[in-house]
Amino acid sequence: MNVMTRPEDLAACAPAGTFVETVTAVTHYTDHLFHFRMTRPAEFRFRSGEFVMIGLMIDGKAAFRAYSIASPSWAEDLEFFSIKVPDGPLTSHLQKIQPGDAVLMRKKSTGTLVNDALVKGKRLYMFSSGTGIAPFASVIRDPETYEKFDELILTHSCREVAELKYGQDLVASVQEDEMLNELFDTTRLRLYNSVTRENYPFRGRITDLIETGKLFEDLGVSPLDPTIDRAMICGSAAMLKDTKVLLESAGLTEGANNRPAEFVIERAFAS
Ligand code: A2P
Repeated sequence: MNVMTRPEDLAACAPAGTFVETVTAVTHYTDHLFHFRMTRPAEFRFRSGEFVMIGLMIDGKAAFRAYSIASPSWAEDLEFFSIKVPDGPLTSHLQKIQPGDAVLMRKKSTGTLVNDALVKGKRLYMFSSGTGIAPFASVIRDPETYEKFDELILTHSCREVAELKYGQDLVASVQEDEMLNELFDTTRLRLYNSVTRENYPFRGRITDLIETGKLFEDLGVSPLDPTIDRAMICGSAAMLKDTKVLLESAGLTEGANNRPAEFVIERAFAS
């Protein structure tokens, strides 16, 4: 298959409504996960937590997939976190990109994992599994999140320990960043990891940890309370569905951009 990666070639045939951007860095975390950075078009605006369509020109046709933007809205470049699907129409090729290669990005971003879709609260939970952590990489670096909530709890659950590294590096880098610490108190952010298919001090699906109360015990916080707790959820379709049931049974109501409430879900990736 022929994948067009030279910026000048791609610019000559990019579909209408797309930017052609250049990859600046690629990090492979596991056989299934990688992270990449690319240039940000000056005119591109987005809200932290939104997603956009990223694509490649493969055999003369543009192939796109929805990606959460992992960088915050103020960042100079754009970051993404991707799975590698062996036969995936896009990711089987995207995983081979190198710095200097060009990718397509549709001009409009959208999404529900945004501060605007939640009413103010004391504590914000960001429940993620696998690559579902990506939008939260953006949200935890947005000053607005710290203005709206006193406490930020990012949970990341994965099958294997190696998959946790991206989130751990990210939270450490946020907490060590002098500029971010001048803007907001990053000690108000906590990361909670759990693993389901390998030995790890914290074992189990996030849903089980919520249901048994172990999550709250480990964190030293009170159980979910609709008067103070808010949540964003991003993961597989099954994870979204099961987590939503637990939040609703705790009395939280699902919100949307036009109807802010106590929790939000991103369904764009739940195939
Ligand atoms: P498990 O290993 O028990 O399936 P995936 O890579 O399949 O998206 O899974 C990422 C993480 O989400 C895994 O730890 C997986 O646990 C967990 N998971 C899968 N389904 C659910 C669900 N319905 N509710 C909560 N967590 C889930």
